[in-house]
Amino acid sequence: MRVQIQKVPQILEFLKIKSAWLQHCKTTSSVCVLNSKDALHVAPCRHSLDSIPGPKNWPLVGSLIELVRKWGLARQHEALIEYHKKYGKIFRMKLGSFDSVHIGAPCLLEALYRKEGMYPQRLEIKPWKAYRDLRNEAYGLLIMEGKDWQRVRSAFQHKLMKPTEVAKLDGKINQVLADFVERIGKVSHNGRIKDLYFELNKWSFETISLVLYDKRFGLLHQDVNEEAINFITAVKTMMSTFGMMMVTPVALHRTLNTKTWQDHTAAWDRIFSTAKLYIDKRLKRHSSESSEDFLCDIFRHSNLSKKELYAATTELQIGGVETTANSMLWAIFNFSRNPCAQARLLQEIQAVVAVDQSPSAEHIKRMPYLKACLKESMRLSPSIPFTSRTLDKETVLGDYVLPKGTVLMINSHALSLNEEYFDDGKRFKPERWLQGKSTINPFAHVPFGIGKRMCIGRRLAELELQLALCWVIRKYEIVATDYEPVESIHSGILVPNRELPVAFIPR
Ligand code: HEM
Repeated sequence: MRVQIQKVPQILEFLKIKSAWLQHCKTTSSVCVLNSKDALHVAPCRHSLDSIPGPKNWPLVGSLIELVRKWGLARQHEALIEYHKKYGKIFRMKLGSFDSVHIGAPCLLEALYRKEGMYPQRLEIKPWKAYRDLRNEAYGLLIMEGKDWQRVRSAFQHKLMKPTEVAKLDGKINQVLADFVERIGKVSHNGRIKDLYFELNKWSFETISLVLYDKRFGLLHQDVNEEAINFITAVKTMMSTFGMMMVTPVALHRTLNTKTWQDHTAAWDRIFSTAKLYIDKRLKRHSSESSEDFLCDIFRHSNLSKKELYAATTELQIGGVETTANSMLWAIFNFSRNPCAQARLLQEIQAVVAVDQSPSAEHIKRMPYLKACLKESMRLSPSIPFTSRTLDKETVLGDYVLPKGTVLMINSHALSLNEEYFDDGKRFKPERWLQGKSTINPFAHVPFGIGKRMCIGRRLAELELQLALCWVIRKYEIVATDYEPVESIHSGILVPNRELPVAFIPR
């Protein structure tokens, strides 16, 4: 007892230090304690980049061989989940010479968001920049940086991010959807559609083209426009050739004029020439109806040069096609496996939209279950597994001080499947998002990224997807044709590992 009393001043001193330390490091909106074990030590709470845990970093290759051997590049998103389980909310990994810090906790995303500067940067897409420099073309939003990025972003922000502006596009979106649901009936055999993903890509391509250029390419009709197919093929080639040049020096490809470089530049040439043609046509034909005048209005009310308009519009088109088609594909799959959710959604649609009416942006406001279903589908089956930031200043995240230039990978896929943030997280449960019930941390679900550099097409994509679900589910019952597992594989975007086992049965 005496011994204990003698120790009281020491204990009090210890508690004082510990409490001061915890005050400093407590889980606030900007700092989070990464590991409860750390919180018990009286130690400096800031550590350097080198002390971040992570998989073994071998000379030259880093962790590339381990990643490829255990998971393969196609399952790299699963590797990230495992690494977060093993190393915690933050880990560091080198793949060849590519060094990055991975974050997978809402508190770290929030801290990053709160410390974001004026012009957040993503990882550079060097092959795209190399093409633009070669042909003296401008950069678009996906690759621009600094003040120029902000200027171009502001030019498009009003039309694309303001809900009332986006709502005006529902007529165009519906025009394409009317053709799409009809096409489902025409191209399906016993309800099954061969290459549903390609059909959905045609739908999203047709929609974004109508919004941007006020032009229908006719991709959903019998006689497909050859020009449009060439454009889609060029986008595919461009996307499939840039990955290789992200991990090997693009300057070398250019000097050696490799096949990858040739294919990449030829694809961009076609993309740019087609986009320019339609932008020019659109600018010549100015209408007084503002919903019809998406590009003209932007051009007129901004100080963008023609070259900047070409590049930014082309990148909107590229950013808006496969992402939206892919999200719709996974939503169709999730409904096929969850008939009760589908039935409840059908009830909501029928209660809000009259049989002879097309669903509109106004209707969607009164459809909470539809919004919850889409959110849940994008949580359970996200299209994009991560985004990135290159730190433009020294930044404290959790217990670590990260130097300027650090590449941060924001692992949104790992986050949204983490049971710590989503109870029963492997199940499709739209109810978890309904008002009154939801206690979900908003930084745990970020399929469109975060902060000032968040996806600029988010609202348009959401409206497209919500209206598409209304049209499709109203007309067809989506059924599962088998219950074998369907896994996602990484090919820049997360795609199913086999043709989806779904069929569309007319109601
Ligand atoms: C469901 C569909 C979509 C998904 C899941 C998606 C996802 C994303 C993500 C994760 C980012 C990176 C954000 C960040 O780094 O914080 C992004 C950026 C971007 N997205 Fe989307 N997107 C979708 C649809 C669209 C559409 C329809 C468009 C075009 C209208 C578009 C155009 C862009 C552009 C231009 C950027 C770069 C923005 C900037 O850096 O300022 N996206 N998108």
